[in-house]
Amino acid sequence: MTTLGVNIDHIANVREARRTVEPDPVQFAFLAELGGADSITVHLREDRRHIQDRDVFLLKETIKTKLNLEMAATEEMLEIAKKLLPDLVTLVPEKREEVTTEGGLDLKINTRYLNNIVESLKDSNIEVSAFIDPVHEQINYSKEIGFKYIELHTGKYAELTGHDQYIELQRIIESAHNANDLGLIVNAGHGLNYNNVKKIASINNINELNIGHSIVARALAVGLERSVREMKSLITSN
Ligand code: PXP
Repeated sequence: MTTLGVNIDHIANVREARRTVEPDPVQFAFLAELGGADSITVHLREDRRHIQDRDVFLLKETIKTKLNLEMAATEEMLEIAKKLLPDLVTLVPEKREEVTTEGGLDLKINTRYLNNIVESLKDSNIEVSAFIDPVHEQINYSKEIGFKYIELHTGKYAELTGHDQYIELQRIIESAHNANDLGLIVNAGHGLNYNNVKKIASINNINELNIGHSIVARALAVGLERSVREMKSLITSN
């Protein structure tokens, strides 16, 4: 059965817009778990634009499911991961100017460096995943470098429509099969929403889907009316 990893970066985005203490992603991780999240995903970025160090250490202590730490393959992040000991580290490419992760890691570059990072994480008993595009070559490199997991980038699938989307879906299906045949555990994510998730969720050998933006957007849609009602009631009950 495919499980759901909930990415709560956007909760921290709202907090950081005011550099204040709410909304607290730690509290929302608890609510995501109540809703059935099988794991909690956070991306600790080099520029700390949303998730902060404090968040990841508190999440590690408080969540009851699993913690998936997305991070760039840097020495700084390696040190943090080795202190934090999350259940899974997902290595992602990171650019300061990007709004969100734009594409998969290119494993062909820095193969040796990535292998050292993966081995170092494994020495601390941390499982490691590579966020990659659904491309055969990248899957082969994932195996070669020593990743146990991969996360297939579904962003392109999410952006395309019609026949082009169908072709991209076939690429994801084929990639998931190939990776499985090589013994890799296959996650997927990026850009998945309430309209496009079903076709990805029905791929047989996908272990977990990581979804953030659409879930947080939906939370606003289903929650705003109540929060306004509560404020209105405080104001008018004077
Ligand atoms: N997987 C990875 C590797 C990501 O970087 C992100 C975005 O932070 C996601 C999944 C979730 O993407 P979305 O927010 O579009 O659901």
